[in-house]
Amino acid sequence: MKVIFDDLKAHRKAQGKGRITDLFAGDETRAARFSTKAAGLYFDWSKTMLDDKAVELLFALVKKRGVLERRAAMVSGEKINETEERAVLHTALRAGADARVMVDGEDVMPGVRDTLSRMRDFAKRLRAGQIRPPAGGRFRDVVNIGIGGSDLGPAMAVQALSPYHDGPRVHFVSNVDGAQISDVLAGLNPAETLVIVASKTFTTIETMTNAETAREWLTRNMGAEAAALHFIALSSNDEKTAEWGIAPERVFGFEDWVGGRYSMWGPIGLALMIAIGADRFEQFLAGAKAMDDHFLTAEGRDNMPLMLALAGVWHRQVCGYETRAILPYEQRLARLPAYLQQLEMESNGKRVALDGRALDYPSGPVVWGEPGTNGQHAFYQLIHQGTDVIPCEFMIGADGHEPDLAHQHRLLIANCLAQSQALMQGRDMVTARALMKEKGLTGDALERQAAHRVFEGNRPSTTLLYPKLTPHVLGAIVALYEHRVFVEGVILGINSFDQWGVELGKELALALEPVVSGAAKADKLDGSTQALVAELSRAKPE
Ligand code: F6P
Repeated sequence: MKVIFDDLKAHRKAQGKGRITDLFAGDETRAARFSTKAAGLYFDWSKTMLDDKAVELLFALVKKRGVLERRAAMVSGEKINETEERAVLHTALRAGADARVMVDGEDVMPGVRDTLSRMRDFAKRLRAGQIRPPAGGRFRDVVNIGIGGSDLGPAMAVQALSPYHDGPRVHFVSNVDGAQISDVLAGLNPAETLVIVASKTFTTIETMTNAETAREWLTRNMGAEAAALHFIALSSNDEKTAEWGIAPERVFGFEDWVGGRYSMWGPIGLALMIAIGADRFEQFLAGAKAMDDHFLTAEGRDNMPLMLALAGVWHRQVCGYETRAILPYEQRLARLPAYLQQLEMESNGKRVALDGRALDYPSGPVVWGEPGTNGQHAFYQLIHQGTDVIPCEFMIGADGHEPDLAHQHRLLIANCLAQSQALMQGRDMVTARALMKEKGLTGDALERQAAHRVFEGNRPSTTLLYPKLTPHVLGAIVALYEHRVFVEGVILGINSFDQWGVELGKELALALEPVVSGAAKADKLDGSTQALVAELSRAKPE
């Protein structure tokens, strides 16, 4: 393993001052050979310093790490989430009518199909106004209360697929900051609002606190008995949902082999199903399945998730770039970077390998981003001319949903393509000088001004193209990224499916709450935290 990483690093060093543009100049087939098609998507990874030798070494890593064996183990229900002793089977949620998936000697698919059909039935009747509030009328608004994987996926997808909304309005509340739930509920009529409490564990403090606030809001307006009929739950914890007062027939359950950040394909996706309808939700599942089938069968560099992962490993672990930017040229994908932050960083942000030893290479990168073209007028300056290299992952659809605004979509495409072109080509000093000369500058002034107009270029990016942001396409994109995270995790030798790193902060927050409320003393805390607690209590307005 170390040897292959060393070889990759040596190869990167040997590339020296070589440029991406040279790779194109020396190979007119590069665009075709360094790109891949799958499930209606086209992934171009040619605008990087990946060359045949790098790809060969990266595939040696894939082999050495047993990525393909691990892939088979995952989809066949082996407990590859070793620290939690769980199988990892989000793919089963979209495997379709004929699949059989065994866990502990039992086929889990009848249960998956049964839950999907209950979700279908519920969404259909809710959308048709057959499931009614106890006082009559219709449920016109649905509030999904959840956080992390119980929020980011459905919230991202509901926004992404807004052209398909034809159901009740769907809202999301995640933060324990009371500002969010206050703002959301302020615009709603309690008599017409259904609340979904989405929590795999049904113990997450933010979600349970917000659910309680929603219950008080409803109870104030209609009494406790009626309020209870405004709730449903999405959870794996039957005991806790019952304790909280949600009847079993109002609970949509899923098994522990669905990780929180991989859960939008089942009950956690119910808000999306309510917004777009069950048929379109199934198209979303079908898009993901098309990507799963591709991931499981495509060979070598034709395998899109594999190549997206290898480009990731090349940039982070070999080239040492610390972050990657997700740049969808699609305003409706505004929440995709946040969704991918959890998917990638909660999965692969780990410093210890499966065997408990510390990694001697970097863990996954920082993932961040914003839609284009907005980002261009904010942080692209640093991407083009800052001292750090930031690999960019562009995304763009061939078509938008606004036929009357096709000219705007053409501008969007032109901007997206221009950015990856500019990052690669840059602008040299000779050209910058000529520009300044044209402006009438001479001497020192010309030199000084020209230096600011130089773009180093040679900055890597990949581009993902899709026909149009449909439910099918969105399903394929999300599954592509899920598999990318899986492959990167296997190459790093870590467990991508646990999240122990979020626990310590949760414990300390619980311990601090009584201190903040004045019920416990602050004197055992570190000096900084003590001072902050004191200052906060002083700073509180009367
Ligand atoms: O705090 C991390 C986390 O456990 C995530 O992994 C998960 O998606 C989120 O909290 C919410 O958990 P739950 O669905 O159990 O409320």
